[in-house]
Amino acid sequence: MSVLNEHFTLSNGVRIDKIGFGTWQIPDGQEAYDAVSYALKNGYRHIDTARAYGNEESVGRAVRDSGIPRDEIFVTTKLPADIKDYDRARASFEESSSLLGIGHVDLYLVHWPSPQPGQDHAEGNQAVWRAMEEFTEAGRIRSIGVSNFSIADLESLNRTARIRPMVNQIRWHAGYTQDELTAYCKANDILVEGYSPLATGKILKHPELEKIAAKYDRSVAQVSLRYLLEKDILPLPKSVTPERISQNTDLDFTLSAEDVAFLDGLEDDRS
Ligand code: A2P
Repeated sequence: MSVLNEHFTLSNGVRIDKIGFGTWQIPDGQEAYDAVSYALKNGYRHIDTARAYGNEESVGRAVRDSGIPRDEIFVTTKLPADIKDYDRARASFEESSSLLGIGHVDLYLVHWPSPQPGQDHAEGNQAVWRAMEEFTEAGRIRSIGVSNFSIADLESLNRTARIRPMVNQIRWHAGYTQDELTAYCKANDILVEGYSPLATGKILKHPELEKIAAKYDRSVAQVSLRYLLEKDILPLPKSVTPERISQNTDLDFTLSAEDVAFLDGLEDDRS
């Protein structure tokens, strides 16, 4: 079965496709419209955007123009990092909703726990969460979650949350697997979505990974994405290149335990 037909189930029972199309750094306009249109034509049914990416209008237009029934497509967007009060959270969601123009939002995330590292916005996060819960109860959002939240951020949010976060979208790739946070999320029924699953492209030239990829007759990108699936992490690869957009869903193979162990031990090479 193609990975495009597989899904995870969120803690509220909503199904989410196992692979999502990431749109970070895809400029608004023709480029985002074409990339999302191509992804949808090639079987993706899960698209990830954010208010901060500035491309919601093009993403929404591509979804609408695709002719695919709305309920077959899963769209995520995010509340900007600097919005930490109830009223502005409501207004920002309305703005995203209107730019997308696709009715409900499938998943809405708090993009960052704080706009700058080291600041404490625990109360602000609780306030914006309340707005997100209300939109969920009103049927405007199907599932809510967070992004880039640490264990401490999740715990302080849960002090007042009536609806528990269903997702934590974090940077996750071989060499950067955030083990403690990942284990915490799994233990608390929070799906981990991995952004930058190819380390924004930096992983692709790794000589050992090239050897592993050759064994499976696959690309390093495919091995890297498969690695996330082996770990039950939802990958969100980004590409504007048609062959790559297709290639990134052709993941019907499994990595040996030995290769997974090698990938587990990879050094953090983000610098
Ligand atoms: P491009 O968008 O020019 O096709 P990440 O998903 O980790 O953020 O990585 C995105 C980067 O990896 C982009 O530069 C993208 O390039 C590149 N990329 C995505 N898929 C592939 C692939 N299958 N092979 C090679 N490069 C890829």
